[in-house]
Amino acid sequence: MTDRRPLVAANWKLHKTLGEAVALAEDLYAALTEDGEAALRDVDIVIAPVFTALARVHAALSETGIALAGQNVFEQDSGAFTGEVSAPLLADAGCTYCIIGHSERRQHFGETDDGVHRKLEALLRHRLVPIVCVGETLEQREAGDATEVIVGQLDRALGGIAPADLHDLVVAYEPVWAIGTGRTATAADAQAAHAALRAHLEGRDAKLGADTRILYGGSVKPDNAAELLAERDIDGALVGGASLQAGSFADIVRAAL
Ligand code: PGA
Repeated sequence: MTDRRPLVAANWKLHKTLGEAVALAEDLYAALTEDGEAALRDVDIVIAPVFTALARVHAALSETGIALAGQNVFEQDSGAFTGEVSAPLLADAGCTYCIIGHSERRQHFGETDDGVHRKLEALLRHRLVPIVCVGETLEQREAGDATEVIVGQLDRALGGIAPADLHDLVVAYEPVWAIGTGRTATAADAQAAHAALRAHLEGRDAKLGADTRILYGGSVKPDNAAELLAERDIDGALVGGASLQAGSFADIVRAAL
């Protein structure tokens, strides 16, 4: 890591009832503060619960400095779009961030790079910080196409948006084969991917390249987080499975200090 402020985000995916979500949020705050305020002071911590738990988790975490994210968003603000949730509604529920383009959305719900671009525009309209996920499949990695795939996904997600409008952008590199599998990219492979993504951002705008936080995701655990986060272009983590336990997520956050 460099002087970019570390960011560690919890993706709770489709887990936790209201009661469980509030309890986990409270346990997490307790775990993060048991040895002082450093974790909360020096790391941006973001939690993405299911939509139905957002408002309650927001109430439970108000004044803690822990931020909330949506796991997805629809590109339009309102209208006849049954079953969707929009950026202004996420903001209304207490979100300041939103994950878009997660590989599970691409894989199970047919999300495309163009769709991710439109979601990004919706988030920017409402001043929500986008966490744009990119990642290659195992097949693509084995074919030697990983860099081309992830840089292409990022390029199409950003489209023609002016760099000045992307000053809060967060990118998450999540190799699909590492998500929920217990397989992690080596720190060196992850660093190489992050460097390629940063080079693309730098090509758009030097400041965008220097300032954008790029998170690694895919089976991040307390025992591999420090090694990954020590890499110069890895600015934080997007954590799925290990974020469902307060102790292990807090340990990952501490690894970012
Ligand atoms: P995982 O999930 O940590 O369980 O691999 C990461 C993610 O999907 O964001």
